[in-house]
Amino acid sequence: MTNGSACDQRPRLLVVANRLPVSAKKTGENSWSLKMSPGGLVSGLLGVTSQFDTKWVGWPGVDVINEVEKAALSKSLTEVNCIPVFLNEVFDQYYNGYCNGILCPILHHMGLPEEDPHDTTKTFETQYDAYKKANRMFLDVIVENYEEGDIVWCHDYHLMFLPKFLKEYNNKIKVGWFLHSPFPSSEVYKTLPSRSELLRAILRADLLGFHTYDFARHFIRTCTRILGVEATHEGVVDQGRVTRVAVFPIGIDPDRFIRTCKLPEATQQINELKERFAGKKVILGVDRLDPIKGIPQKYLAFEKFLEENPNWRHKVVLVQIAVPTRNDVPEYRKLKDQVHGLVGRINGRFGSVSSLPIHHLDCSVDFSYLCALYAIADVMLVTSLRDGMNLVSYEFVACQEAKKGVLVLSEFAGAGQSLGAGALLVNPCDVTEVSSAIKEALIMPADEREKRYRVNFQYVYIHSAKKWGDDFMSVLNDTTPESEMQLRK
Ligand code: G6P
Repeated sequence: MTNGSACDQRPRLLVVANRLPVSAKKTGENSWSLKMSPGGLVSGLLGVTSQFDTKWVGWPGVDVINEVEKAALSKSLTEVNCIPVFLNEVFDQYYNGYCNGILCPILHHMGLPEEDPHDTTKTFETQYDAYKKANRMFLDVIVENYEEGDIVWCHDYHLMFLPKFLKEYNNKIKVGWFLHSPFPSSEVYKTLPSRSELLRAILRADLLGFHTYDFARHFIRTCTRILGVEATHEGVVDQGRVTRVAVFPIGIDPDRFIRTCKLPEATQQINELKERFAGKKVILGVDRLDPIKGIPQKYLAFEKFLEENPNWRHKVVLVQIAVPTRNDVPEYRKLKDQVHGLVGRINGRFGSVSSLPIHHLDCSVDFSYLCALYAIADVMLVTSLRDGMNLVSYEFVACQEAKKGVLVLSEFAGAGQSLGAGALLVNPCDVTEVSSAIKEALIMPADEREKRYRVNFQYVYIHSAKKWGDDFMSVLNDTTPESEMQLRK
């Protein structure tokens, strides 16, 4: 995020996502500190091409009501090319309600949650209204900052109305939309109230991007089944208008991880961790504490492994970083209690005064320490029940030059399709299968580990975040704007 100068001749790109790449924290009267936001979406977006003069539009992570404070924060954000959308009173029903309470479970194949019959202030309808309203607030900020020729790239399920609103404002704007989560089978999507309106809204974009062929295929099939539109090899055709649908698997910036592992700070952390876990194999898990990540299932599989392999007890440790997220959504709060219960049970059953099988942390760790953990792990356990891509698996591979550990990976993560050749693929719901994969990973001979690591490293290195951003922008560039299509008719 460099500061664009006034004479910057590169085309402007407005990257619009719910969350800005930085989050603000109040440090005093009208003063704010900015910190990099968490999450795969943000790290992926940082790889967006430098061919553009990029401005970011999104929520700054805080409520700000006072106009003087809003102006002060906007000014600080301008310095890092960010433009805030203050969502304040709509935030709860839009983000906790519709985005994370309804859309997120549907897109991750978890079905439509039940409405709370006792709370008439928070219904599907009120949450949907807040969602639309929030999308309009994003539009208003874009319109205020729009310059002719700007390209707009919208991100994720938070902003499904934005392509429609943008085209209604000006149908000459090039609009791309990318989904960072899975897109489910039409049978699952069909249960969503307002399913057609949402589909029609994103279809107004010029290009829709998905992580995998399966997600793109599910989306196209859903459009043909629910809207009765036509599908071609290019995408979806609705009333003579083509919306391109294509696959762009996201990646990471591998060099950032490789470099960090070699810095003195990480080297020292690596040595300390090796000493701390001397004589034991380390299994690592790094996930947001989200129901889609399958942390309880992971613990059950580890419990089964310890149960069935007494010789491994006290010789293996599972370090799980469970990064807190979306604490105001009831499902996420319940999950925390469930996971803590399991950790207590397993440590109680298989631990001793000097050794605990699970080290569970309810927090994130700093970047250098994260790289050190990736570097010393013998086995990485990624058991998401569903996941758009899962960049943690890529990050692990990038840090494993010395160790060449084994990646146990859910077949229901997008990464299952890209790293499947080098990983041990598992069905995360099958506790027996995951427990066997843990054993296979722990005893895998060095030459096979090396072979698998090489295949995965090559993939991670080539399919970087930068490539993802460049590929998307190049296809978006080639699309015909809606305004020209209408002239040709
Ligand atoms: C994960 C998901 C993305 C989502 C992001 C938002 O990375 O894969 O689809 O956009 O989380 O996280 P947040 O913390 O902003 O809800």
